[in-house]
Amino acid sequence: MRTPDVVPAPGMPERVTIYEVGPRDGLQNEQGLVPTEVKAEFIRRLVAAGLPVVEATSFVHPRWVPQLADAGELMELLGEVGRDLPVLVPNERGLDRALELGCRHIAIFGSATETFASKNLNRGLDEQFAMFEPTVVRGRAAGLDVRAYVSMCFGDPWEGAVPIEQVVEVGKRLFDLGANQLSLGDTIGVGTAGHVARLIAAFVEAGMALDQLAMHFHDTYGQALANTHAALEAGITTFDASAGGLGGCPYAKSATGNLATEDLVWMLRGLGIETGVDLEAVAATSVWMAGHLGRPSPSAVVRALAGGTAQSTA
Ligand code: HMG
Ligand code: MG
Repeated sequence: MRTPDVVPAPGMPERVTIYEVGPRDGLQNEQGLVPTEVKAEFIRRLVAAGLPVVEATSFVHPRWVPQLADAGELMELLGEVGRDLPVLVPNERGLDRALELGCRHIAIFGSATETFASKNLNRGLDEQFAMFEPTVVRGRAAGLDVRAYVSMCFGDPWEGAVPIEQVVEVGKRLFDLGANQLSLGDTIGVGTAGHVARLIAAFVEAGMALDQLAMHFHDTYGQALANTHAALEAGITTFDASAGGLGGCPYAKSATGNLATEDLVWMLRGLGIETGVDLEAVAATSVWMAGHLGRPSPSAVVRALAGGTAQSTA
């Protein structure tokens, strides 16, 4: 089968927005450097496949993430298409670079834990806000749309369990700087479904609306789809995913790929939930990208569609 039978389940949303992070979260973690032209083509193909949001790159310190040191060249190569794609910026220096290139959407990325704040941002847990605040204030004044990520929401490789109250406090504080969406990151993929439901409920109790929240699952322990299902049941309608399941974080031990976009689209399609995404086109893009990276995609759906286990129903 090349598409699942559609059997809707009660209590599910009609439509979900997929926030594609493959070009950023995926490629930031590659060992080798991917040529800028290949990145641009990857992004163009993802946009053409109907993905409504494609995060393009990061304006971070090039020494910290050499894989994305070509952020400026990439945005220039993409031209007008690029200006509508979100980019990560950690600080005012990153903001200046994004503004010079006409970017209209930025994302800051905070940490729910002290250790990861220090490893990823070279700042303490509290200090990170002093870095983000002027970035968001100036970004908003320039008319930019701001997303905030919070990492290590379900566990931290150095600190272990992360209390839900701590995640909510940091997440709310980041959001209240002036963001319009907060993405809750399971950076190392250790979360499970009950934890997901509990965390979402805690954010709602703290006054956040469900449509202000997005979920960002990494699939290290194979829980990303189960966790997505739990979040759908809780009323979340924005999910981060990466084409072919690329991804990880170079500063988080044991972080592997994100939830694969194709695995997500397959499940949503089976549930009758609209995404506007052309599954075959994304899977073909992941196969093309895997050719450039020199290894097969870890996505079960990409492998099934590409490898002949998918029988045509046409
Ligand atoms: P720092 O070394 O503390 O920076 O790094 P600084 O403010 O002390 O500045 C030192 C020098 O760096 C200065 O240059 C700055 O101009 C320059 P000098 O005056 O010495 O010549 N500099 C920059 N240059 C270019 N672009 C910039 C920039 N900022 C400073 N933006 C910093 C602090 C935040 C910059 C650094 O820690 C950094 O770049 N970190 C990024 C780490 C990263 O990208 N991690 C991966 C993304 S997060 C993630 O993947 C998780 C997520 O997917 C969600 C989830 O899964 O949970 C989002
Ligand atoms: Mg991530």
